[in-house]
Amino acid sequence: MPRKKWDIPQRQATDEDVYFNRRKFIRRAGLGTIGLLAGCIPEKLLNPATLVDPTKYLSPTRIEPTPPSEWYPAPTNDAFSTLDRPLTDEVVAALYNNFYEFSTTKEVWRFIDNFEPAPWTVEIGGLVQQPKTYDIDTLIGTMDLEERLYRHRCVEAWSMAIPWTGFPMRALIDLVQPLSSARYVRMLSFFNPEVAPGQWDRSDWPWPYTEGLTIDEATNELTLLVTGIYGHALPKQHGAPLRLVTPWKYGYKGLKSITKIEFTSQQPATFWNTLAPHEYGFFSNVEPEVPHPRWSQATERFITTDPDAPARRETLPYNGYAEYVAHLYE
Ligand code: MTE
Repeated sequence: MPRKKWDIPQRQATDEDVYFNRRKFIRRAGLGTIGLLAGCIPEKLLNPATLVDPTKYLSPTRIEPTPPSEWYPAPTNDAFSTLDRPLTDEVVAALYNNFYEFSTTKEVWRFIDNFEPAPWTVEIGGLVQQPKTYDIDTLIGTMDLEERLYRHRCVEAWSMAIPWTGFPMRALIDLVQPLSSARYVRMLSFFNPEVAPGQWDRSDWPWPYTEGLTIDEATNELTLLVTGIYGHALPKQHGAPLRLVTPWKYGYKGLKSITKIEFTSQQPATFWNTLAPHEYGFFSNVEPEVPHPRWSQATERFITTDPDAPARRETLPYNGYAEYVAHLYE
């Protein structure tokens, strides 16, 4: 029997209470944390009179025919079961997102109702021995899911701490067997302006959102294909039904709602690098000493409802994951 979802270290107990007690969150949001959160969430959302019912937006995406409860909670990977900071409140994480297909604001949840992440397929192709289009349920059912707590650092200098559920990308790569000529992995999100107003409004942007990794990065122990968060399936705004998480890189590398994974011999063009090459590179590793052209990366604004957590923290090289990845860039 899988270990209980929240059977994790004592130091996180306070935040766990918050995740699973929405009323308490609402009370706290209304009475105690406006000052702390005002920088992250528009004040109207924190006014108890107008606060949305977060449970509506957090209900796990249904992935038929296998009910999500069969997959979640997944066992925790002991190597990633603790962090040096409290987890970000689930509700805060779900109301503060980047998903430009839907909005250029953080209030993605407001614009995402028409997006249907089921049924869903993921095409695996390019330089690979076993090209295949997977139904997402089949793919998830084939893989061993695990939970990992990861630091999450956006290039905009905000950060969170998130419990993701997923499987190592390496497991998928072992399954599909890239050819020896494959040196990169290119990943694409969806293109459907009928449900994604951002794709309609910004029709000159290089949709679909595309990202890429070297094969060495894709097979690194940290690289996770994510299907769930906080012990349930991904809500839409976090990139249902499948997204990438590479915690030593800025968050924009973490492509949401993946439709295609392609193995290539050439470094693929990526969304932000195509839009603003002088601001966003291909590798995009978290490097505190390398400022963004418009702001410093030396510190980050930690988004949390924990009143004891520092509002700003020093940015860590590779977001604290140097031991896993620094060798890739020597
Ligand atoms: N994936 C797609 N398809 N579209 C996007 O706009 N935004 C990226 C990344 N993945 C984005 C995306 C950025 S800029 C960040 S910081 C993270 O998603 C945010 O993930 P979160 O909203 O789950 O915190």
